[in-house]
Amino acid sequence: MQLTEAQKSKVEDLLNQMTLEEKIGQMNLESPSIVGGFEVPFEELIEMMTDGRISQEEFQRIMSEATRDFHEDDIRAGRVGSMMVDDPRKNNELQKIAIEESRLGIPLIIGFDVIHGFRSVYPIAIAEAGTFDEELFERTAHMAAKEARAHGINWTFAPMIDVARDARWGRVSEGPGEDTYLGTCFAKAKVRGLQNQTENSQEYVAACLKHYVAYGACESGRDYNTTNMSMSQLHNVYLPTFKAAVEEGAATVMASFNDLNGVPCTVNPYTLRTVLKGLYKFPGFVVSDANGIKECVVHGIAEDDADAGEQAINAGLDMDMGTNIYKDHLANLAESGKVTMDTINDAVRRILSVKVWLGLFENPYVPEEIMQQYEEDRLPGEHVSITLEAAQKSIVLLKNDDQILPLSRSQKISLVGELAGNAEEVCGAWAMSWKRENCVSILAGLKNAGADVNYFPCGGPEGNINEEEISKATEDCDVIVAVVGELISMSGEASSKANIELPGKQREMLKRLVASRKPVVTVLMNGRPLALDWEAENLPVIVESWHLGIQMGTAVASVLFGDVNPSGKLSSSFPSVSGQCPIYYNHPSTGRPGSKSKFTSRYLDAPFDALYPFGYGLSYTTFAYDDMKVTEGNDELQVTVDVTNTGAVAGTETVQLYMQDVTGSIVRPVKELKGFIKLELKVGEIKKAMFTLKKQDMGFYDNDSNYLLEDGLFRIYVGGNSRECLCEEIRITF
Ligand code: BGC
Repeated sequence: MQLTEAQKSKVEDLLNQMTLEEKIGQMNLESPSIVGGFEVPFEELIEMMTDGRISQEEFQRIMSEATRDFHEDDIRAGRVGSMMVDDPRKNNELQKIAIEESRLGIPLIIGFDVIHGFRSVYPIAIAEAGTFDEELFERTAHMAAKEARAHGINWTFAPMIDVARDARWGRVSEGPGEDTYLGTCFAKAKVRGLQNQTENSQEYVAACLKHYVAYGACESGRDYNTTNMSMSQLHNVYLPTFKAAVEEGAATVMASFNDLNGVPCTVNPYTLRTVLKGLYKFPGFVVSDANGIKECVVHGIAEDDADAGEQAINAGLDMDMGTNIYKDHLANLAESGKVTMDTINDAVRRILSVKVWLGLFENPYVPEEIMQQYEEDRLPGEHVSITLEAAQKSIVLLKNDDQILPLSRSQKISLVGELAGNAEEVCGAWAMSWKRENCVSILAGLKNAGADVNYFPCGGPEGNINEEEISKATEDCDVIVAVVGELISMSGEASSKANIELPGKQREMLKRLVASRKPVVTVLMNGRPLALDWEAENLPVIVESWHLGIQMGTAVASVLFGDVNPSGKLSSSFPSVSGQCPIYYNHPSTGRPGSKSKFTSRYLDAPFDALYPFGYGLSYTTFAYDDMKVTEGNDELQVTVDVTNTGAVAGTETVQLYMQDVTGSIVRPVKELKGFIKLELKVGEIKKAMFTLKKQDMGFYDNDSNYLLEDGLFRIYVGGNSRECLCEEIRITF
């Protein structure tokens, strides 16, 4: 986000004219209350939906039936600078009040959670990250921005870029997985897709990086829980996604709920002032997470609301989401000198800068013709194609014994599992604006693809299994396709789990199906890595298809029939059993690496390593790696490897580059991803993957937050996943 001189003067000009009340108004994100049947703040209603207390359909019904109390007088008086609304006509009305009836005519910045699509919902982030496709990350984000903007939303609470290594945490679904480098590529591409090119400001929105910071490190995978870590870990693992996205120009940041080393991130001067605004020179504004300021009282860091507000603003938190604490207490705090006018001016300057940069003064309203485009049920064709492409590329083939896949259309399929027939379950957590008519279930996808298919629900993530249906399903068919996994309400916010095996009686259902001796193709539909020890041992085929969005059924059918050769890789390691969590490939070396012998870093009752590691994913073809070379230049290493398609069909391989700093002044990870290249290879074709690894990127932060480049031995790895790699050693002097 960069402002021209004229834009900067506009900000200063406004700031000079503002009263204290108007300034505080800009710092207030006010949610409408939902009235009529339900009397709750808007965020709470969203929370009720995300934690499963009400279904997505009920949410949509309440939203359409209920009136929302929009505090229009407050907007008129300049006491509200921001709102959360998703209705374009209402947004136009509210903007009109702000622009035409408030004294200074400052438009509202209107936020909403557009996390993995708006009307055109694409795969959840943990799935999309597995495409390792930066151009796709950007395209899907741009599509979401365009649709959001068409609904009057000019600010999205995305991308979620929390590195997350514990699959028990429900919010692993929302982010790009366990790896910092992949997360960084994802973060930058999302910022570009959401907010670049403001010259056509009807197609772009302001991004909001969240949740700043280390929210994904919550202890024991329990949402909102405490985080505690060394400075080295904070700067090496959790901050880089944010640093990179700020450098890419992200306009806003959301402070996370968790405390970090004892200080809630809402009131944390180190993370907000020292790092974000100081070290990273972030020019935009920081908003709290919903009710975050008030929760500081419950955290036990603030005595009351006023104290929480004082700590938050002084720590560098510019906008209050949903608590009215700034609105109610900031004027007194300023009068008593506990908060200076400079601090308030700095916050307001940042907020106004984002509004000016976004072009809201010139283009505040959604034009009628754009609104009408989305009032029909049909989505733009090119958006449907993007959601399909993203869904197809996100599918990860985990196991395919005896090449049971791809299926042929002449095979008679018994399709099993309640999830297979349920179009409401395809979109995943944090999708709120889809329409059922646009969603394709796996059953519909198979039928549309011309499959000879009979459907037997048999059981699902919640309920019992229906023995009679299972018997029928196994009788008259050539192959069973069993769709098992999680409901969308089982991942996402407030959806942590201690046991991440298949929920309900789905494993029993699979046991019955396998006992029939018919080939069983298992399709997983889930929002987190699952513990699959029994499944990996006993099922011949496992396809990880996550929650893929509106085109899920079409995408799954195209992979099952081999119209598309799967190319997705895992962005997060899968454990064998839940007790291995957190499990991630890039853990620090230990003095006794896990092995078969007893006194090593291992478990007595479970494997020490992942069942399926980061970066893993099969194809209908096979790839061979050889002739790896590492050559040293002045500032970089050149790493090359030959990759050959050794199978019988064309395929796409994600070639991954890792390194290990063998000896450091603090212990370094056993491997770290440093690059990836996607190669499309015809049958028998050989291509050279060529990487440039900058020496500058081979360092790390120590516990005093200094970035160090230390001479010594490095191992460079190249392979098709984080476990199976070729390796070369090189000694480097920086
Ligand atoms: C979530 C955020 C979200 C916000 C606004 C919070 O509960 O943690 O991710 O953006 O609500 O809906």
